[in-house]
Amino acid sequence: MWSLQNLLFIICIALRCVTCEAGVIHVTGYVGREVNVSCSYDEGYESYEKYLCKNDCGDSDLLITTSNSSKNKYSIHDNKTSRIFTTTISDLHSVDAGKYWCGVTRTGKDIYTEVELKLVPDSCCDTVTKVQSYEGYSESVSCPYESQNSLKYICRGNRPSTCLQQALITSDTKQNGRFRLDDDKMSGTFTVTINSLTRNDSGSYLCGVQRNSELDVFSAVELEVEEWCCVNSTKINGTAGNPLTLQCPYPPQHWDNRKFLCKGDHRNNCSDMVTSQSRFTLQDDAASSSFTVKVTELEAADAGTYWCGSDSQWRVGNYTKIELSGMLDTFV
Ligand SMILES: *[C@@H]1O[C@H](CO)[C@@H](O)[C@H](O)[C@H]1NC(C)=O
Ligand SMILES: *[C@@H]1O[C@H](CO)[C@@H](O)[C@H](O)[C@H]1NC(C)=O
Ligand SMILES: *[C@@H]1O[C@H](CO)[C@@H](O)[C@H](O)[C@H]1NC(C)=O
Ligand SMILES: *[C@@H]1O[C@H](CO)[C@@H](O)[C@H](O)[C@H]1NC(C)=O
Ligand SMILES: *[C@@H]1O[C@H](CO)[C@@H](O)[C@H](O)[C@H]1NC(C)=O
Ligand SMILES: *[C@@H]1O[C@H](CO)[C@@H](O)[C@H](O)[C@H]1NC(C)=O
Ligand SMILES: *[C@@H]1O[C@H](CO)[C@@H](O)[C@H](O)[C@H]1NC(C)=O
Ligand SMILES: *[C@@H]1O[C@H](CO)[C@@H](O)[C@H](O)[C@H]1NC(C)=O
Repeated sequence: MWSLQNLLFIICIALRCVTCEAGVIHVTGYVGREVNVSCSYDEGYESYEKYLCKNDCGDSDLLITTSNSSKNKYSIHDNKTSRIFTTTISDLHSVDAGKYWCGVTRTGKDIYTEVELKLVPDSCCDTVTKVQSYEGYSESVSCPYESQNSLKYICRGNRPSTCLQQALITSDTKQNGRFRLDDDKMSGTFTVTINSLTRNDSGSYLCGVQRNSELDVFSAVELEVEEWCCVNSTKINGTAGNPLTLQCPYPPQHWDNRKFLCKGDHRNNCSDMVTSQSRFTLQDDAASSSFTVKVTELEAADAGTYWCGSDSQWRVGNYTKIELSGMLDTFV
């Protein structure tokens, strides 16, 4: 037979567990990384010893105390100003997940706060958005989010734990070299634009949104930058003083575009010769998908790289590049 005293004792324990359950501290960490477990304590206990223990908090469950603040993969720091002591657990493994207690040593019963540590893999995500682009182009990556007033960022790879630290750009900087971040709060999307893409920009990216007391939220993007197809290079020798005709085939789908002959090492910043020099005249022959440029009298300064232009945006297509040389070797 249970005495009334026993029954009251059981009720008391049950009540205590209900109240302590409400005070459970939930902490989430990444496997392989570290996590901080912070517990606050009441005024007056600043000088008392603090500790972290596991499971039932028996003698063998004690992990670390402020009396010896670094042990194995545990370290502890007591901030007496903020009355928060923080235990750092590094090199997290799945066996580290589970129940912990933050304790304050005192005469009589110690003060406990329950901690529940959850571990998640340091990788992301089940769904990946694929984006395809070409060398030299600009491409935008859209990252949807839910929480409004938090920091947004993007990083390479798919490691959430180091993403913010290695961010290419954040919503605080907005522009960093070839990267720009635009935040559209109305639609809950931030967009990262990368200019002058190279093949090296291909790979995985993570969009991150910072959260205060929980792990940041991520979405994954896979960017594939393809070679800007396909430049056909031809070399031509010219003779100073003589006329020359350049042949420029162009992609049939450009038949209706404005045609131009452009000089410069790079197609992005070459200059149109036909509009700037009267010695150059252009004739389009849409039927053969090509145009010709006649130069009346070559000059030594005409040597260089030319691009047969049929799309001012230089969208993907087959283009012709002409290396003109030889004028200096010849005497008229
Ligand atoms: C844990 O706290 C330390 C000290 O404040 C900090 O340097 C470290 O980045 C924190 N680690 C994590 C995973 O938040
Ligand atoms: C603190 O812990 C280290 C490593 O376990 C041990 O070598 C050292 O004796 C301890 N110091 C004290 C004061 O307990
Ligand atoms: C302790 O906490 C206070 C208030 O949060 C902070 O200003 C201070 O830098 C912290 N001290 C240490 C040593 O972390
Ligand atoms: C691309 O990456 C490789 C290896 O990381 C490097 O050697 C090369 O210079 C990079 N190319 C460009 C155009 O950045
Ligand atoms: C490159 O241009 C030359 C001269 O116009 C032409 O004979 C050749 O077929 C072209 N090659 C390709 C792959 O288009
Ligand atoms: C242009 O001239 C150089 C030397 O003057 C010669 O080596 C080269 O083969 C010539 N190229 C063509 C396409 O005729
Ligand atoms: C032309 O563009 C290329 C690539 O975008 C760049 O490397 C080069 O410096 C530019 N040249 C000039 C004169 O702007
Ligand atoms: C370039 O030309 C090749 C050969 O004619 C063709 O197979 C390819 O589709 C063309 N590329 C583009 C982007 O038009």
